[in-house]
Amino acid sequence: MSWRDAYQSKRVTANEAVSHIKSGDRIVLAHAAAEPMILVDAMAANADAYRDVEFVNLVCLTEAPYCAPEYQKNFRLNSLFVGAPARKAVAEGRADFTPVFFHEVPALLQTRLQPDATFLQLSPPNAHGYCSFGVSVDYTKTAAQKCGGINIAQINKHMPCTYGDSFIHVSELDYIVEHDETLVELQPPVLGDVEKAIGRNVASLIQDGDCLQLGIGSIPDAVLAGLTDKKDLGIYTEMFSDGVVDLVEAGVINNKHKNIHNGKLVATFLMGTQKLYDFVDHNPMVEMLSVDYVNDPRIAAQNDNLVAINACVQVDLLGQVVSDSIGLRQISGVGGQVDFVRAANMSKGGRAIMAMPSTTKGISKIVPFIAEGAAVTTNRFDVNYVVTEHGIAALKGRTLRERAAALIKIAHPDFREALAIEYEKRFHAKFKESEWVKG
Ligand code: COA
Repeated sequence: MSWRDAYQSKRVTANEAVSHIKSGDRIVLAHAAAEPMILVDAMAANADAYRDVEFVNLVCLTEAPYCAPEYQKNFRLNSLFVGAPARKAVAEGRADFTPVFFHEVPALLQTRLQPDATFLQLSPPNAHGYCSFGVSVDYTKTAAQKCGGINIAQINKHMPCTYGDSFIHVSELDYIVEHDETLVELQPPVLGDVEKAIGRNVASLIQDGDCLQLGIGSIPDAVLAGLTDKKDLGIYTEMFSDGVVDLVEAGVINNKHKNIHNGKLVATFLMGTQKLYDFVDHNPMVEMLSVDYVNDPRIAAQNDNLVAINACVQVDLLGQVVSDSIGLRQISGVGGQVDFVRAANMSKGGRAIMAMPSTTKGISKIVPFIAEGAAVTTNRFDVNYVVTEHGIAALKGRTLRERAAALIKIAHPDFREALAIEYEKRFHAKFKESEWVKG
């Protein structure tokens, strides 16, 4: 049978497609802007037919009915990265969180979390019968091609066709649901004075020719906005957004100094606006690759001068970084933060930067002790720089006393005195401004 005939024979409605799911099945769901909502909505519409179906995914950008209270008996989310819609469900015990480095997710899906079904959203097939994973190759490609289980795909003409290792043949799909809809968009954050100051401080640590990894949140966008006067930057990152498009178009990013994937923008998933999705469509400059490759620290570190820029929620006076919990509350996951922090430490000339506003809602984010119940995301041995709107604390190679002093110096002025008292208790030494480490 030709692939065209096979394609036609696999076409079904969303309701027919999800009728192949049984109670107790595990569904691996493509995530972020690639989440196939037509299939998720069909599951919700037929919820009474299911008990204890487990959904596994990373970033949710949508309403996530699979963790809504009304479907508690039908569905349970096992989140590998707790995005905003999943936070309440995890906090209320209606969903689970599995801590895992992003680069290890494909291995997890081939072992402990093998899917009975994978839900995909793909571009229409090309002339040879290959559909593109588009904006989300990450763990989705492994789930569909190496884990067994059935593959149910939404085919959407709005899913960009991306290059790299981003294709699956129609023969590998079991059921096809044609449904065109524009992708979910993530709007760029509005940058205030604090974010702009953080962006300028981080930009001062970036040199022409560096290769950048950018994390999730408003800080990476602020950093990109501060890089317009740099030259010859490269991108080797887990994900990128609209800010990278602006810098490519301005000629700032050209990837010409990268040791691997020279000349290419490398990522494993993408989230942004339609501008980003149009930019990556059929763009040979963009290489979308599996996360077990992109985020493997041993591979990422092959780029010299790899600068990992990530955000966090709390840093203690030792330099321990909390990025995925606020006390007992799970608000995120490790994602690729530690993958790239490790890679930056292994890269020749590399730097690992953690950036955050010095306060949130009137609370200092630099604290004597991390909040009770919180978990360290990036350990103190791996952090090179912590950046706030008040400056840069260079921690690598510094004593505990020097680290604490450098961190107090970049805390919000309202909290420095209280932190200095904690310094004196911990180090049995008078805290003198003259002892503060410079730069
Ligand atoms: N105490 C109490 N609340 C805090 C806090 C603290 N120390 N730090 C942050 N918060 C609150 C904020 O006020 C905000 O609350 P709101 O939702 O009510 O507005 C919320 O937590 C989110 O914080 P914010 O700083 O706005 O988040 P962000 O969107 O900039 O993302 C991270 C920051 C750290 C959550 C995000 O970068 C992340 O998930 N990192 C871990 C994974 C990662 O780095 N991956 C990198 C590769 S993709």
